[in-house]
This record gives sequence, C-alpha cells and structure tokens, in this order.
Amino acid sequence: MIAAGNLLSSGGAGEGEVAMAANGEWQTYNNQMIDAARQVIEAVKARDEDKLFEVGNNALYPPCEACHQTYQKR
Ligand code: HEC
Repeated sequence: MIAAGNLLSSGGAGEGEVAMAANGEWQTYNNQMIDAARQVIEAVKARDEDKLFEVGNNALYPPCEACHQTYQKR
C-alpha cells in the first residue's frame, strides 16, 4: 500500500491523474494514507489486534473516503 501511495503521489496510473496529483489536497490525502499504512505495519509487527482495528478505522479509511469523494468521477 505504501508503494501504491508512492505511485499515486506522482499521479497514479489513470488518465487525468497526473493533473489531479498536482492538486494540494490530493497530496494531503495520499500522505495521510501512506502514514496510516505505516501505522498498520507497526500494529501488525506488534501483533496488536486492537491497535490494528483502531488504525484501520480511524487512520486508514478516512483518507480513502475523502479522496474518493473529491476525485472519483463515478
Ligand atoms: C489520493 C487520492 C486517493 C486515495 C488516498 C485513495 N484513492 Fe482509491 N481511487 C482514487 C481515484 C481518483 C479513483 C478512481 C480512479 C479511476 O476511476 O480512474 C480511485 C478508485 C478506487 C477503487 C476502484 C473503485 C471503482 O469504482 O472502480 C478502489 C477499490 C479504491 N480506490 C480503493 C481505495 C482504498 C481502499 C483506499 C485507502 C486505503 C484508497 N482507494 C485511497 C483516489 C484515491
């Protein structure tokens, strides 16, 4: 997922996404997602199930949702 985030930060794979990636909010959401993915890795390493659940809901999901609401066409 961090790799996907790195790809997304330079515009992803879809048409028109390079232009969207130049937009400040795109970078914000993307950075939040990358940061959350790192927290997921930490929780998994620590085998902390509660932490994993919390990070998933509170850190990982919101930037997905926010970015889709702003940029997804469908
Ligand atoms: C930086 C912005 C951004 C972030 C953050 C982001 N996405 Fe997306 N996502 C998009 C865009 C834009 C599309 C639409 C791409 C297209 O249609 O070409 C998309 C499409 C998708 C699709 C395909 C949906 C469909 O109807 O085809 C899925 C599944 C998806 N994202 C899951 C996620 C998940 C899960 C996360 C969080 C872990 C996430 N995305 C984070 C921008 C983002």
